[in-house]
Amino acid sequence: MNTALVRKRLVIGNWKMHGTQASNAMLLTGLCAGVAVVHDCDLAVCVPFPYLGQVSASLHGSGISWGAQDVSKHEQGAFTGEVSSSMLTDFGCRWVLVGHSERRTLHGETDTLVAEKALAALKAGITPVVCVGETLAEQEAGRTNEVIQRQLAPVLALGADSVAKMVIAYEPVWAIGTGLTATPEQAQEVHAFIRAQLSELGVPQVRILYGGSVKASNALSLFAMSDIDGALVGGASLVTEEFLRIAAA
Ligand code: PGA
Repeated sequence: MNTALVRKRLVIGNWKMHGTQASNAMLLTGLCAGVAVVHDCDLAVCVPFPYLGQVSASLHGSGISWGAQDVSKHEQGAFTGEVSSSMLTDFGCRWVLVGHSERRTLHGETDTLVAEKALAALKAGITPVVCVGETLAEQEAGRTNEVIQRQLAPVLALGADSVAKMVIAYEPVWAIGTGLTATPEQAQEVHAFIRAQLSELGVPQVRILYGGSVKASNALSLFAMSDIDGALVGGASLVTEEFLRIAAA
């Protein structure tokens, strides 16, 4: 089976901690109006928790799906400030980012916790988008593969049935929000490394997104790579036209 043929492109916007009800309304209206230019691509946005209601109401029936940027590993209980996967299901979330580098760095999320969060999402029927990526220092020390392998290990240990329902996002930390993008060849090399591990587990069809300063101007060359199945887009997902052009690339 040629798995490249069965891996539909996926472009997810990560709004991070941006937005107001008014600015979201403009962005969402623009996306709904422009989504017809996007073909053969699953399009989604991952938004701050308070806006999930707004997003589900605005995107309902548009063909664009939505999700959150984090989830608790717990199902419910005395965990002040946490949001459970069943709450996300309640808002129609299809996706949740787990292990974004900003959560790993700023909130001390470990590889194990990221895997636990991915499992919590799966149990609620939500697709976890597991983010991995090396820092500049790790890249310069030639440790990229070792870091990716370490980050993925507890996730892959959940087993083929679970991993088959996930998406992996490779986001080199040095390329996030910096304007620096990995070259398509650099990104492809890491994606191929991740693909090899997925293949070894028996799930080569899992989609692998690239993230880190993706823009309309570089999306096409990234998407031309055989193991890049789409993008996780930060800054550019806040600009309607730019985000749609990436998805249409
Ligand atoms: P960026 O962010 O596109 O702004 O670099 C990507 C991300 O952090 O998911």
